[in-house]
Formats: sequence, C-alpha cells, structure tokens
Amino acid sequence: AEPATEQQATASTGSTVRRTKVSVVGAGAVGATMAYALLTRGVAREVALFDINRAKVEAEALDLAHGIQFTAQSEVVGSDDVEVVRGSDVVIVTAGAKQKPGQSRLELAESTISLMGKILPSLLEVAPDAIYLMVTNPVDVVTYASLKLTGLPPNRLFGSGTVLDSSRLRYLVAQATGVAVQNVHAYMVGEHGDSEIPLWTSATIGGAPLLDWQGLEGRGPLGDAERAAIAYEVVNSAYRIIEGKGATNYAIALAGSRIVEALLYDQHAVLPVSSLLKDYYGISDVCLSVPSVVGKGGVLHQIEVPLSAAELRGLQASAESIRNTARSFGL
Ligand code: LAC
Repeated sequence: AEPATEQQATASTGSTVRRTKVSVVGAGAVGATMAYALLTRGVAREVALFDINRAKVEAEALDLAHGIQFTAQSEVVGSDDVEVVRGSDVVIVTAGAKQKPGQSRLELAESTISLMGKILPSLLEVAPDAIYLMVTNPVDVVTYASLKLTGLPPNRLFGSGTVLDSSRLRYLVAQATGVAVQNVHAYMVGEHGDSEIPLWTSATIGGAPLLDWQGLEGRGPLGDAERAAIAYEVVNSAYRIIEGKGATNYAIALAGSRIVEALLYDQHAVLPVSSLLKDYYGISDVCLSVPSVVGKGGVLHQIEVPLSAAELRGLQASAESIRNTARSFGL
C-alpha cells in the first residue's frame, strides 16, 4: 500500500519518498486529460495545473481532486498564478491554439511560437531545473523554437513527437494481424504531422520481422496495400477525430504520461520523442522524432535504427518540411 505521508514512507523504508511534481501548462482538453492520466496512472505525487483562465483551471483541479481517493497517493492543485508550477520536476506544455477541422498542425505555428515567447520565461523562473515536455502543436517546430527561446540543453527540452502516432500505428497493425498491441514494435518517425513516415523495415511482431508476417487465423500478411492504408490512417487520425469531437485528448494524454513515467522513474525507455538532431544519418539542426532513450536526464540517446533508402528519403523530406516552417518564422 502507498505510504500516506513522507514521514511514514521514511519510517517504513528508511529512505524518504522523493516528492515528484509534474506541472501541466494549459487546462484545455489535452492539459486536463493529461493531468487525469498522470493521476490515474499514479505517475507523480503532485500534479499542478496552470492556465490563465482562473475559473477553468480551478474547476478542472477541483474536479480531479474529488477523485484522488481512487488514485495512487497524490495531490492536485490548479491556479492562474505561475507560482503553482514552482519546483516542478517536469513541466508539460500543452497551451496553445488547437487544430480546427481540416487545419494542419504546421498552420498553428505562428500563434504558438509567439505564445511560447510569452510563457517560457516565467516558467523557467519558477522551474529552472525541470525537464520540459512540449506537447503544443506543431510540436516539432514549437520544440525547436522553445530550445532557442530558453537556451536549455536539448536533452532537457523535447517534444511528445510521434509517441502518439507510433501508438496509433501499433494499434492498427494489432487490429490487422490479430496480435496484442504490446507485441507489435513499430515506429512512426519524423514530423508529428503530415510528413511523418512508418518504419516498416524495422517493425517486428513478437520479434519476427513484420514484413515476413504470414498471418494468423485468417488475418493475412500485411501487403503493400494494407500497409499503405494503415499509414494513411495514422497520418489522418487526428483530422478524423477532430471532425467528430473537435479535439483529440485521450491518447495524447496517455502518451504524455508514458513519457513522464520514463523521466521520473529513470526507465531508459525507447520512445520516439521529438528532439534536436545532430548528424542523425546526416540530418541536423531540426527537431523531429526518432526512437530515443528517455530517462531522468531527458533524452539520453537517439537510436540510429536501420532505414531503407526510401525510409531515409522520407525522414529527410520530413526534416525539410519542419525546417521550412521554422525558417519561415525566422528560427
Ligand atoms: C494528435 C494531436 C495531439 O495527433 O496532434 O492527436
């Protein structure tokens, strides 16, 4: 059972339980659901919500607090005062405009880059030693701009990237093959957006190459057409969900809480987060997603997974698409 207080924890284990604090900036659909995911997954001892809309952020925090009897030992607070973020181990930035139906993520760049310029300095003041996880879209451009704005080292400020897209890919492959999603290992890489690409050549099902998969109980192998359809569905998932409910929030919140778990528990987990590349297959000076080792120091290592010539070309094209957007805003 979870110790009720740090004193009890010390008494029982002889070591103090380190109080972990995660702050979520932005109490919109993504931010509030992110806080909910952190609490229900028992990821942090304290979750703070910060938003300029006082009524909204206080209401979200209160609604969450009413349920913490049913979660792992934790506290949740909410405020429109940035002080609530003070001393965070991790700061998750979700604030920003959301995609309208049919709008691409890159089209949000102008408003969200200027918003980062406004909020990051005050966040750094109260949480100078935190790891910063950017979720606001377009997350790759926002991550790159935020690195420049804050001067933080590239391991300590990175984006949620294609962790969500890779989860969508694995879900669809699991549905198509009849294998549990936990046993499908496949990545979407590049932009968290229209130019992302699937890495089919390194994908595996239970350790066997996905491209050699022969099928199970009538669910056949994944031929070119099936894989193209899956990739199309992944790239267009958000548009489809936004058409139907106005935003996406559940899966991105679960993806974000998974990343925070790797940070707080120093898991050295491999996750395709968006970080600054430096000569990754010759690609440099752009933030995009590749499989990376994530631990308490943030992004510890970017893994150079084997790429086919076509996959490398796709990754280079994605890098160019992100870089063009960044350049158009003088980054
Ligand atoms: C999505 C948002 C988080 O892909 O960009 O659902």
